[in-house]
Amino acid sequence: MKTVIEPFRIKVVEPIQMTSPEHREAALREAGFNLFRLHAEDVLIDLLTDSGTGAMSSDQWSAIMRGDESYAGATSYFHFHDRLLEITGIEHILPTHQGRASERILFEVMCKPGDIVPNNNHFDTTRANVEHSGAKALDLVIDEGRHAESTHPFKGNMDIAKLERLFEDVGREKIPLVMLTITNNSGGGQPVSLENIRAVRAVCDRHGVPFFLDACRFAENAWFIKQREPGQSNRSVREIVREQFDLCDGATISAKKDGLVNIGGVLLMRGHAIAQRASNLLILTEGFVSYGGLAGRDLEAMAQGFEEVLHEDYLHYRIYSTGYLAAKLRDAGIAIVEPAGGHAVYVDASAFCPHIPANQYPGQAVAVALYREAGIRTCEIGTVMFGGETPPAMELVRYAIPRRVYTQSHIDYVAEATIEVFKRRETLKGMRITEAPPVLRHFTARFAELE
Ligand code: F0G
Repeated sequence: MKTVIEPFRIKVVEPIQMTSPEHREAALREAGFNLFRLHAEDVLIDLLTDSGTGAMSSDQWSAIMRGDESYAGATSYFHFHDRLLEITGIEHILPTHQGRASERILFEVMCKPGDIVPNNNHFDTTRANVEHSGAKALDLVIDEGRHAESTHPFKGNMDIAKLERLFEDVGREKIPLVMLTITNNSGGGQPVSLENIRAVRAVCDRHGVPFFLDACRFAENAWFIKQREPGQSNRSVREIVREQFDLCDGATISAKKDGLVNIGGVLLMRGHAIAQRASNLLILTEGFVSYGGLAGRDLEAMAQGFEEVLHEDYLHYRIYSTGYLAAKLRDAGIAIVEPAGGHAVYVDASAFCPHIPANQYPGQAVAVALYREAGIRTCEIGTVMFGGETPPAMELVRYAIPRRVYTQSHIDYVAEATIEVFKRRETLKGMRITEAPPVLRHFTARFAELE
């Protein structure tokens, strides 16, 4: 059979309702044209993020009922711990409330002012947490990863020559760790090859520097490796996942992505000394080492979610459905980041609105137009999100697909609405920021439309 179906049936439904154009206009103005400020009930199809927005399975909900809420040494903690150990082989495993809590602890333990942390592309919270520690976050993705139209199969790869040069230029003392984000969210949800992960490992070994993964979407990355990397198609996703983790010294994970849960995170480390320091910080601000700011039931949901995400029928459907939306947009002549990412399709807003320059936020203009048109919420990933000292290479609008939530007809509707907006793209207006905080401004800034 050629049709790829959702490998589940629906047991519980959540109604969604269309709003009138007048209602959406009023909601937009109230929100200062910032889609993060909308009330979710005013959104019909929510593609703001794939983070914490997935649907849990009946097995996860039943695991929740088995949650052990003991303060210390809860049975649920051991279920969570044993699952992560089995999947990753990394011996020190801390639960955290989400990915950025893992990041904050890791960078506080490892970095000092003046340090440099290289990554393919730092996600926004990762960059902010590196910088919060006083270190500098440096993006070293390969050149193909900076060009929307390149169809390189592993556009998330790190540029190994640039990494080597960095070590030569600044010296290993200034580089406390090297990170690699799999898949590379800020670069278009693009995968990193095993070959590239091995090459980064080799550089780190030569210089005696620890190597960490930002492994939020480790299973989606492994699926791409199985599909695209020579010699990998006969291996199971589980084996590939294990090799990804075998190659690193630790990882931060937001379980809100490939953990298939609505809240939760993980910090993985090899090495007793660093794990000890991280545990102390965890206790200071998150909670005891056996719950890390979560309830026992959350740990149960993660233990089950990290198992389900490795099912290959799920991954096949997951990555196929993202590609399905991408194909519809591409066929209508809309430029997207090629090839389609794992968790999201990224529309190239500069190509969509060539009449709107980067400093008038073309991505924000497209995202606002899509909400106006059809109640769809997407997210600007461009100058609004990253426009500090170093403007981003691309102006994108991200359509992130929540896991196991929307059906094919929802996605058909999203494609149709985008095509409608595309047909009248010359009418879209640039925007200006009227109010913004000093960091992570995209969450709370307010905008006005230019005339
Ligand atoms: N790293 C990556 C690559 C991410 O995509 C995210 C979150 C984080 C770290 C932080 O995890 O949200 O659990 O604290 N990404 C979400 C997104 C928010 O919309 O892409 P968190």
